[in-house]
Amino acid sequence: MAISRLLLRFTHRNDTSCQFLIREIRVIRGKVFIRVLLVVKMKNIVILGSTGSIGQNTLSIIRQEPENFQVAGLSAKSSINLLEKQVEEFHPETVVITDEEAGEKFLLRSAAEKTEVILGNEGLRQLVKKPGIDLVIIALVGIAGLLPTLEAIEARKTIALATKEVLVSAGSIIMSQAKKNKVEILPIDSEHNSIFQALRGHQEAEIRRIILTASGGSLREVKGDLSDIKPSVALRHPVWKMGKKISIDSSTLMNKGLEVIEAHYLFGIAPSSIEVVIHKESIAHSFVEFSDGFILATLALPNMKLPLSYVLHYPERAKSNLPKLNFSKITKLSFENPDFGRFPCLKYAYNALNKGGTMPAVLNRANEVAVEAFLKERINFGRIPEIIKKTMNLHQVTEEPNLEDILAADRWAEEKAGKLI
Ligand SMILES: NC(=O)c1ccc[n+]([C@@H]2O[C@H](COP(=O)([O-])OP(=O)(O)OC[C@H]3O[C@@H](n4cnc5c(N)ncnc54)[C@H](OP(=O)(O)O)[C@@H]3O)[C@@H](O)[C@H]2O)c1
Repeated sequence: MAISRLLLRFTHRNDTSCQFLIREIRVIRGKVFIRVLLVVKMKNIVILGSTGSIGQNTLSIIRQEPENFQVAGLSAKSSINLLEKQVEEFHPETVVITDEEAGEKFLLRSAAEKTEVILGNEGLRQLVKKPGIDLVIIALVGIAGLLPTLEAIEARKTIALATKEVLVSAGSIIMSQAKKNKVEILPIDSEHNSIFQALRGHQEAEIRRIILTASGGSLREVKGDLSDIKPSVALRHPVWKMGKKISIDSSTLMNKGLEVIEAHYLFGIAPSSIEVVIHKESIAHSFVEFSDGFILATLALPNMKLPLSYVLHYPERAKSNLPKLNFSKITKLSFENPDFGRFPCLKYAYNALNKGGTMPAVLNRANEVAVEAFLKERINFGRIPEIIKKTMNLHQVTEEPNLEDILAADRWAEEKAGKLI
């Protein structure tokens, strides 16, 4: 009985983090006795983008739970000082530095003799397919995450995905490859993570609507014209502390637009059944409405360590040490419609999703180019949506694109948006 209960408890584990070893089988007076040894293995984790906001938050959870997790690989673009500290602390077998110049400097001074160092983008693809990896956390920024994610799926690694741009650009390809290779994609974005939790045990056909909440970004209280907002103002997010690109995306509401597209691919929901609501308190992360009218809301403190801990421990639940949500201190939860006129990027994301084919990849790249130019103060805030709209208007959509078509559309949008700047 005890054994069957024990076995049942782990029936749903789809990872390699525990094994049963049958030590002895005896038959005594007609009864069978089996002695089983349960071996709980540490999960081997790879983090692409370990020096970023998501990467550092992930490592801070791993730091608290050395008995559960082991770092197998890390990557950065050029933040070699921080990467060096991470290598000294977590002793990964492999690190990848995609900026080769920074990588050469790292090699010259690094004392990490036991760590293999690979330079260049190709290194990300080599890293994710190494044997013995249980979970690959994709936390790079932008389209740079696409090819390593596909490689990890083909190598049948479980994926925890923060880089929404991957699904925005190539959602159909990613999801069909994941299905073909029987790979689970665990969303890290707090909204999608909460929907993923709400949907466990439910069928796609039972869902009537999903509602993504949005904090409203740094400019939600700013009145008047937004066109000359400075990067330092747009970067000041009222709730979340995040990397620069996503902070600007939040200020334009493009982040929510990208999340609408991400939700469409992850959960197979029609664009018309995905809604956005501004919820300044960022306590409710999403709502899932079922066909019978019931709505499941997922509430939690706005802290990325919660979804990160969820994906690290999945399919189990962690014992969190984070502060509890104190309902007596929440005086109100407010909900408003987004202002599509002031924040047209959200509308452009819906348009791109409805157009389909290569258009979401074009939206994504035009946005990446425009945000980078804004951060370097080459264009003003008002030109971000303008550049995205113009690039989309110039694009001839390829229907049902393959990977080559997506990559070609991405390059095309990079060039066109660059010229517009
Ligand atoms: N931050 C959040 O709370 C949050 C929440 C939900 C979703 N997300 C999503 O998660 C992703 C990461 O966001 P973040 O805020 O963690 O970003 P971030 O702080 O800017 O960190 C990005 C990481 O990716 C690396 N990187 C950047 N560009 C790269 C490239 N071209 N090739 C290879 N590596 C590159 C960076 O290395 P260097 O440090 O060397 O530049 C860094 O390690 C984004 O897609 C974002 O939308 C973030």
